[in-house]
Amino acid sequence: MTRESKSSAIDVFLEETRVFGPPEAFRQVANVRDENVYARARANPEAFWAEFASELEWVKKWDRVLEWNPPNAKWFVNGQINVSSNCVDRWAKTEARNRAAIIWEGEQGEERTLTYWDLYREVNRFASVLKKLGVCKGDRVAIYLPMIPEAAVAMLACARIGAIHSVVFGGFSAESLKSRIEDAQAKLLITADGGYRRGEVIPLKHDADYAVAHTPSIEHVIVVKRIGMPQRMKKGRDLWWHDLMREADARVEPEPMDSEDPLFILYTSGTTGKPKGIVHSTGGYLTGVYATTKWVFDLKPGDVYWCTADVGWITGHSYVVYGPLANGATILMYEGAPDWPERDRFWRLIEKYGVTIFYTAPTAIRAFMKWGIEWPKRCNLSSLRLLGSVGEPINPEAWMWYHTHIGGGKCPIVDTWWQTETGMILITPLPGLTKTKPGSVTKPFPGIEACLLNERGEQVERGGGYLAITKPWPAMLRGIYGDPERFQIQYWSMWKNIYFPGDGAKLDGDGDFWMLGRVDDVLNVAGHRIGTMEVESALVDHAMVAESAVVSRPHEIKGEALVAFVTLKEGNKSSESLARQLKDHVTQKIGAIARPDDIIFSVELPKTRSGKIMRRLLKDIAQGKVLGDTTTLADPEVVSRLKQQYEGKGE
Ligand code: WTA
Repeated sequence: MTRESKSSAIDVFLEETRVFGPPEAFRQVANVRDENVYARARANPEAFWAEFASELEWVKKWDRVLEWNPPNAKWFVNGQINVSSNCVDRWAKTEARNRAAIIWEGEQGEERTLTYWDLYREVNRFASVLKKLGVCKGDRVAIYLPMIPEAAVAMLACARIGAIHSVVFGGFSAESLKSRIEDAQAKLLITADGGYRRGEVIPLKHDADYAVAHTPSIEHVIVVKRIGMPQRMKKGRDLWWHDLMREADARVEPEPMDSEDPLFILYTSGTTGKPKGIVHSTGGYLTGVYATTKWVFDLKPGDVYWCTADVGWITGHSYVVYGPLANGATILMYEGAPDWPERDRFWRLIEKYGVTIFYTAPTAIRAFMKWGIEWPKRCNLSSLRLLGSVGEPINPEAWMWYHTHIGGGKCPIVDTWWQTETGMILITPLPGLTKTKPGSVTKPFPGIEACLLNERGEQVERGGGYLAITKPWPAMLRGIYGDPERFQIQYWSMWKNIYFPGDGAKLDGDGDFWMLGRVDDVLNVAGHRIGTMEVESALVDHAMVAESAVVSRPHEIKGEALVAFVTLKEGNKSSESLARQLKDHVTQKIGAIARPDDIIFSVELPKTRSGKIMRRLLKDIAQGKVLGDTTTLADPEVVSRLKQQYEGKGE
């Protein structure tokens, strides 16, 4: 066990000693090479952020950088800016106009490339369509589309005229779409006749029809023809995208937006609770995502940048659309699944388009581990120079796998911690500077102040505690749509004037952060508070294990007993003796205190549609409770199968 401060709120067990400095060839040409950026930003954070903001094009410069009345921040006060002109016009006006902005591939293999000039034309024309339909500044527009370029065009067109978009992930149900439209009182919905996923058609328009039948605020539905199946178009309400675009004007002046005007609402349900409409601003948000994209991904002209997130998530907003385009990057966008038609689709895409920067989620990496290295081995991945991870803690073995089998041992990995609420990456390596460690998110981005606190608000210098963000940052959420009280209680009531993200973390002797999972999931065994991440990582460390989720059930002596759900790499068989081996492995890695009482082998784990493991449901199973709400699951069947399996064990 590592040495800990007395104030620790969570115990820590796992020690990881491997360290990987930036490869020399990478470091020499990296965008950030100077260690002093941290000290400089700390000495004057407002000047630091203002420098990035000055690299954007403002209609009117701000008077003050920051006005902070906790929990309400205003950034670049009285400044005026338009996000679409920064992401599109700015490049379309220069010699970059013929550079590819979006390289798109459909699941069926179709290809489309939009240069910055193409994007400029499309965004202007669609902005004119919206205007002609009476959409005004401040109106809410719902977007329910597959991963097609029109999704980015629609977002940027809203930004151009000052309409607030609310993107709803295309995999969400009609019911989820309905409640999100209702909450935001959206005036217009943009959808498609369908999208492809694993060769099947997702009937978006069909689901949209259900939602719109119950949401009188919607005046029009614009439908992109993606599939080409006949659709029932309601007269006066439903309009085809391509028909409207034929009549569109070539140019719409970008609306000068106040820096604090909302840019979008994005609903997050996290792994628990009713969806919250997280509101993001214009000037601060753009500055934050612009800065982090430039520094964390070391973007350079010539890069082909691929973030695999769907535009329905914050990662898709900040690091598919706004951050990269504000940097004039070339992005790859792929519509479908990683295992369609085969399990090497991602690697084929990297080879085909010469992807240089690849940003994905641990859930995907663990699936690749489960499928085996023969898939990436078939492809030439040598164009890659930087890898990223986001969305969940990455287990050290998954990190090593990613480093070795995808990065060829030569690519830095940026494990980036942030949230829908933070809008931008807050804790991350800088790839030309930071010594990375498998499983550590390392240090706060320059200008970000984060630390660990316990319940009493005392600082934990070393060991485990609750992550706290102690200073405002430009892309921070500006509230929960229509619910200021919940905003205050959810994020600002744990300590005074300090943001509480709800995650546990530990600090090591070098001051590096290691995320331990959501604090709601912390396990309590014989008086020890153990983060789920450490036990899971000890299991994933075993050569046969691809993924694991650890929860607890009540135990008469220890308080709680640990139940580990385990997915094996393909080609391995579960058995009583393997279960014993795995328990021993955990004992040996982190100690008897964390030895699981039960090991449940499972082909799959229940996950949210964005790929996060739903431990809450596994806990219900382990505690023999009636199952909670399963509607946010990607595959609700997984849970009932596991429940049967667990009960069949006769525990
Ligand atoms: C988790 C995704 C560990 C964390 C951008 C956070 C992470 C939640 C990491 C936000 C990471 C995200 N390491 N945990 N690198 N990145 N998380 O809103 O629990 O979908 O609070 O935003 O994901 O998820 P969200």
